[in-house]
Amino acid sequence: MASHTFTLNGERITVEAEDDVRLLWVLRDLLGVTGPKYGCGIGVCQACTSHINGKAFNPCSVPVSKIAPDDEITTIEGLPATVGKELHPMQEAWLELDVAQCGYCQPGQIMTAVAKVRRAAAEGREIEERDLDEIRNICRCGTYTRIREAIKAGAK
Ligand code: FES
Repeated sequence: MASHTFTLNGERITVEAEDDVRLLWVLRDLLGVTGPKYGCGIGVCQACTSHINGKAFNPCSVPVSKIAPDDEITTIEGLPATVGKELHPMQEAWLELDVAQCGYCQPGQIMTAVAKVRRAAAEGREIEERDLDEIRNICRCGTYTRIREAIKAGAK
């Protein structure tokens, strides 16, 4: 057992865990942060997608010992809300377009979407169809058409 310190959703935290435990289980089982979902556990389904230092990643594939003290982990619980609203613009778009069906993959979908929009903005451009084509988050309900529309709406 070892101590692991990092920033989670804007707060410094220290957690005791074996070095090889994957971050997803630290988040869900030890810290009670259940937005990132368990789907495959091997970096394929993207249900657990969260952000590390602003970029999308899969906490199911990263041992907690690989998280550095200055790393900032953000899960869907930590997405900043629009000023005067309760939710992030991407979440607002999701609700407006009624995207979710069973809902299980949706936190990961939204975290991927936010990272894509952020990357496009850093490159000085708007989100494009090719960005949406790159997304590998699996939705068993097949809500892909609504997801694409919501990402475009949430990017505005
Ligand atoms: Fe992490 Fe599937 S649970 S990618």
